[in-house]
Amino acid sequence: MSEWVAVAPANAASGLPDKRQVAASFSRAAASYDAVAELQRTVGSALIERLPTDLQPSRWLDLGAGTGYFSRVLASRFSTSEGVALDIAEGMLRHARPQGGAAAFIAGDAECLPLRDASVDLVFSSLALQWCEDFSAVLSEAKRVLRPDGVLAFTSLCSGTLQELRDSWQAVDGFTHVNRFRSLEVYQQLCAASGLQLDRLDVEPQVLHFAELRQLTHELKALGAHNLNPGRSGRLTGRARIRALIDAYEQFRTPSGLPATYQVVYGVLRKDF
Ligand SMILES: C[S@@+](CC[C@H](N)C(=O)[O-])C[C@H]1O[C@@H](n2cnc3c(N)ncnc32)[C@H](O)[C@@H]1O
Repeated sequence: MSEWVAVAPANAASGLPDKRQVAASFSRAAASYDAVAELQRTVGSALIERLPTDLQPSRWLDLGAGTGYFSRVLASRFSTSEGVALDIAEGMLRHARPQGGAAAFIAGDAECLPLRDASVDLVFSSLALQWCEDFSAVLSEAKRVLRPDGVLAFTSLCSGTLQELRDSWQAVDGFTHVNRFRSLEVYQQLCAASGLQLDRLDVEPQVLHFAELRQLTHELKALGAHNLNPGRSGRLTGRARIRALIDAYEQFRTPSGLPATYQVVYGVLRKDF
């Protein structure tokens, strides 16, 4: 293992307060995450299905591994391989480590990977990269650590995600209460400029339904994925504002319940020989 991990496990969150917040939020959510992560399992499984059929990695990286569910899937799918589960949230790694799957569990940042050049055959990343402000840095780090013919397979979220919640808050107070997501066009541009070969990049909406709005907001909190934007309101959420939010969201109700739309981006890229 030491020959492909370039530096000692990093203090992943150093220097960047927003990353510290992301790490702290996901660390706090580690114990509750798996119970509410149905969409995340569906999306990650769909990404596994999109992996090139000829891919036989001897080393893989699960980037933003969270509780390590997909590290264990990768370990069983590529049974002779060796993997690293990397996440910015130490609390997630503490939760994942005892469950096995990866040979190493490393704290690190997708924008600055603590791995050697040309050290892995597959970078797998599901629903983590929407948290990275500098997606071109993520792509360039993936390219650096991939061996020739290696594959980057990722899912992420693009604009339109949680639009119902965003619009409802907008109607209430105009504050940023929902995380911002890059547009699909930006994903397309950055992938095209990455120097990796683009095998596929597509978007598929997934819509969850909730009987009540508080089920959605509780789920986001349990996932660690509630709003961490600098523009969020620092004021206490008064009962009147919550009532107004519920009323605004009710406008979206369908016979299946209150919809929460996720615009899921699937990308598969390959490094040239
Ligand atoms: C929604 S969870 C997904 C976890 C897992 N991939 C899954 O599908 O269940 C997102 C994960 O990305 C991690 N993350 C966020 N920003 C990161 C970064 N810059 N570098 C590495 N991991 C990051 C979070 O700590 C969190 O564990």
